[in-house]
Amino acid sequence: MKPNAIVYTSNTGYTRQYAQLLAKKTGLPVYSLEEAGKKLPRGNAVIYLGWLMAGKVQGYAKAARRYQVAAVCGVGMGPTGSQMEDLRKANALSDAMPVFTLQGGFDLARLKGVYKLMMTVMGKTVGKALADKADRTPEEDAMLDMMRNGGSRVSEENLTAVVSWYQNAM
Ligand SMILES: Cc1cc2nc3c(=O)[nH]c(=O)nc-3n(C[C@H](O)[C@H](O)[C@H](O)COP(=O)(O)O)c2cc1C
Repeated sequence: MKPNAIVYTSNTGYTRQYAQLLAKKTGLPVYSLEEAGKKLPRGNAVIYLGWLMAGKVQGYAKAARRYQVAAVCGVGMGPTGSQMEDLRKANALSDAMPVFTLQGGFDLARLKGVYKLMMTVMGKTVGKALADKADRTPEEDAMLDMMRNGGSRVSEENLTAVVSWYQNAM
């Protein structure tokens, strides 16, 4: 299914950046899920990007009720291309659904309320467990670095797989 728009949900802006970069690369129009509700009619085929919270692609269920989702991109803390099977399971995505993971960013200062609290707790629990682990995988190293130091990993290069999927989609 060839998508004709990009729809996204972002909390602190990293997913929005990816959506906009992808729009530049593909020439597709881009909408936040909220904007799409007003501007993009039901039934359109879309590439959906959402930030990851506890493994769930935020906004995906709502997007899937309104649009034909042609591909799903989850933006989280892990390296681009990692955890794709976990994402498929946690979001009940069929084997036929093209799935991509993109490394976004983390900045505690951009978080508010309950999200800030959750990430503060996560830094102390998951972060500490990772820090104490002797045999970290490169993925775990990347995750730990992101949790400790924050920062953005958004880059055009991380979109290579999505862009080539789009170019070959029919
Ligand atoms: C409460 C909370 C839970 C999160 N859970 C996950 C997660 O399960 N997996 C992951 O890779 N990243 C997780 N993250 C990290 C975000 O997905 C990551 O920072 C992402 O780049 C945010 O995108 P945004 O700027 O578009 O909101 C979590 C962040 C928050 C605040």
